[in-house]
Amino acid sequence: MSRELWTAVDRYIAETLIAPDPALDRALRASSEAGLPPIAVSPAQGKMLHLLARIHGARRILELGTLGGYSTIWLARALPADGLLVTLELEPRYSQLAAGNVERAGVSDRVELRVGPAMEALDELAAAAGDPFDLVFIDADKKSTPEYFQGALELCRAGSVIVVDNVVRDGALVDASSEDEGVQGMRRFHALLASEERVTATTIQTVGSKGYDGFTLALVNAVRSSPRRSERSRP
Ligand code: SAH
Ligand code: DHB
Ligand code: MG
Repeated sequence: MSRELWTAVDRYIAETLIAPDPALDRALRASSEAGLPPIAVSPAQGKMLHLLARIHGARRILELGTLGGYSTIWLARALPADGLLVTLELEPRYSQLAAGNVERAGVSDRVELRVGPAMEALDELAAAAGDPFDLVFIDADKKSTPEYFQGALELCRAGSVIVVDNVVRDGALVDASSEDEGVQGMRRFHALLASEERVTATTIQTVGSKGYDGFTLALVNAVRSSPRRSERSRP
């Protein structure tokens, strides 16, 4: 089985089940024209994220890795009018482009774009001790995924869902001697999941227009290890 066939099937799925969407199409076109790497989730994956958020009734979503805002738009559209999606992006140029794409998609009232290293933003969000996130989508630099997952956990509640993209990397996940730091990041991430008692998780392999990869789905069972700041002062 070939990538061409996976791509043809993804095209069939998109043509059959995913209505043409000018804002999403334009977001991809603008990203491509601006020279962003073509690594956004596929339409079928975007719609799966959207469905997950709706199934879960998510009102607060956190995304790590905005790129041009393609997955951002899919997720934001799952939110109620008073919902919030915070999305973190290292590259100012990507975030700026995403802002335009999000605006044209009509969801800028629900989306907060933050620029800078995701780890710093996670620390800031923890310090701010706001309401927990119902859904987290981790899709930034792959090497730091375990640290992002641990940081995200502190921002969740029992019942929150965490989705992690690109965890299989062409099957390299099973290569203990891989010199790819992204692969090693995903191996450390799986080791963390195996020992992290606060979550129940599985990983699903995928093929499609984005090649052979996979995602992890984790349900948070228990709350954060340390109490939130707002709770610490309580008797
Ligand atoms: N979620 C997007 C794709 C994200 S690609 C979509 O599916 O549409 C990964 C993104 O993570 C890139 O835009 C990259 O610039 C960003 N990134 C890389 N390192 C980062 C870091 N340390 N902090 C925040 N974002 C980072
Ligand atoms: C890469 C990042 C992604 O989010 C993705 O879906 C595919 C590839 C990357 O950095 O190579
Ligand atoms: Mg990805």
